[in-house]
Amino acid sequence: MERTEFGENDLRLCLETLDRIEAKTHGMNLKYYIETYGCQMNEHDSEKLAGMLVRAGYTKAETKNEADIIIFNTCCVREHAEKRTFGNVGFIKELKQLNPRLILGVCGCMMQQKEVAKRLFSRFPFVDLVFGTHELKNFPSMLEKLLDEQERIFRVTESDGEVIEGLPVERAPGFATFVNIMYGCNNFCTYCIVPYVRGRERSRKPEDIVREVREVVAEGYSEVTLLGQNVNSYNYDGMTFPQLLRLVHDEVPELKRLRFMTSHPKDLSDELILAMAELDRVCKHIHLPVQSGSDRILKLMNRRYTTADYMLLVEKLRAAVLNVELTTDIIVGFPGETEEDFESTCELVRSVGYANAYTFAYSPREGTIAAAREDQIPEEVKKERLNRLNAVLASTFPANNEKYIGFEGDILVEGVDHRGEPLLFGKLSNFKMVYVEGDKSLIGSFVPVKVDGLRFNSLYGHIVKTEA
Ligand code: SAH
Ligand code: SF4
Ligand code: F3S
Repeated sequence: MERTEFGENDLRLCLETLDRIEAKTHGMNLKYYIETYGCQMNEHDSEKLAGMLVRAGYTKAETKNEADIIIFNTCCVREHAEKRTFGNVGFIKELKQLNPRLILGVCGCMMQQKEVAKRLFSRFPFVDLVFGTHELKNFPSMLEKLLDEQERIFRVTESDGEVIEGLPVERAPGFATFVNIMYGCNNFCTYCIVPYVRGRERSRKPEDIVREVREVVAEGYSEVTLLGQNVNSYNYDGMTFPQLLRLVHDEVPELKRLRFMTSHPKDLSDELILAMAELDRVCKHIHLPVQSGSDRILKLMNRRYTTADYMLLVEKLRAAVLNVELTTDIIVGFPGETEEDFESTCELVRSVGYANAYTFAYSPREGTIAAAREDQIPEEVKKERLNRLNAVLASTFPANNEKYIGFEGDILVEGVDHRGEPLLFGKLSNFKMVYVEGDKSLIGSFVPVKVDGLRFNSLYGHIVKTEA
C-alpha cells in the first residue's frame, strides 16, 4: 500500500473530465440526489461529490424520483447502518424501472469493506457504480465512463489514503460548515472499523486549511468546525493542533466561531486547553469521547488512557475554560464488560456531568480485534445497559442545566422550532441550545440572550437586545 500524491495535473484532469461531461449532457437538465449516512467525514465527502456533479452540469434534485443519478454514501461503524443501506438500495429498483437512464451509485466506508461491497454489487444488479473511500478523485472518470458505455463499475482499492486538494465543493446551506484538517485514523481502538476504511492519519497543509476557512467565510458562513477523526493528533511538518487553531483564529478574524471535532483524550494537551481558554472565538465546547468508565475495558479497547487521566482532563478544562461544556461517546456491552464495569461507566457519567452524550450498544465489526473475542455480551444485556445508561445520563441533565438560569450569552440563531409555540433556537458558544421568542428574520445572526428556564435538555430564555 503506497501513499500516492494527488497533484495539480490530476486536479486539472478531473476538472476537464467534468467539463466534458457538462458539454456532452448540456440541455438535458440532469439532476442528482445524494443520501449520506454516518459522520461528518461522509457529509463532507458528499459535498465534494455534489460539487463535482454541479461542475458536470447537474442540479440538485429535491426527491429521488426526479433524479438522474442517486448516490448512497454509506457508513459501517455500527450494524444497523448496514441493514438500512441494503434496504434503501433495494428500494431503488422500482425507480430504475421508471427511469432507465437513472444511475445508481453506492460509495463510502461500507463500500471500502470489499466483501460487503462485492455482496451488494452482486445482490443488486441494478447498482451501476460501487466505489470505496479512496476513489473520490476517480469519480469524474467513472461517471464519464458510465454515461458513455453504460457498463457497471466496481472500484475498491486498498490505500493508506492521500490528501486531495482543489476538488469543487457544494456545501450544505446554512451558517455553520465543516473544514477537514486531517483524514484517517491510526488509533485502532479494538472495536472500531474506521482505521480500516479511512486509511492512515494524514494532515492537510495549514495554508490550504486557512485558505478554505477564508473562502467559506467569504461565502457567508459564520461558524466553522475543524474536522478529523482525531483532530488533536493533527501534525503537519511539526505544526500541532493547538498551533493550527491559533493560526486559523488569528488569520481569519472575520470568522465568528471556530469549533473542532473529535478530540481523543490521549492527545488532549495543556497547550490545547490554553488555546481554548485564550482564543475568544474558539467555542467553549469539547467533544471528548470516553467510551467506558472502566479502566479494564478502556485497556481492552486500546484507548490508552485511564479514567483517572480522563477525570484530570475534565478538571483542567473546567478550571481553565470559563463555562466549558463537554459531550462524549460511550459504548456499552463491549466484550467481557461485567456489571461492575458498566456501573463504573454510570459512575463516571454522574461525576462528569456531560451536556450531552451519544451512547451506543457495542456492535461487532468484522476484522476488528474485539469482534473476534469469545466473551461477546448478549444483545438483551447490551440493550438493557444502554437503557439504564441513558436513564442515568438523563438524570444528570437538570443539575447541569440549572446553573444556566440567569446566564447571559450570544446564540447563533439556526432556525424556528415548531413543536408547540414557534420559537427561535440557536447554540451558545459552549453548544448549549437556547430557545427564545423572536422574529425569523434573526435566523443566521448572533443574538444576545438571557436564560430563564429549562426545556428538555436545552434552555429557554429571551432576547436581551437585538443587534443593530
Ligand atoms: N474518531 C472518533 C469517532 C469515531 S466513530 C473518536 O475516536 O471518538 C463515533 C463513535 O462511534 C465512537 O466514538 C464510538 O463511541 C462509536 N463506535 C465506534 N465503533 C463502534 C462499535 N463497533 N460499536 C458501537 N459503537 C461504536
Ligand atoms: Fe475509531 Fe478509535 Fe480512531 Fe476514533 S480514535 S476513529 S474510535 S479507532
Ligand atoms: Fe461511519 Fe465512516 Fe464516519 S464508518 S462514522 S462514515 S468515518
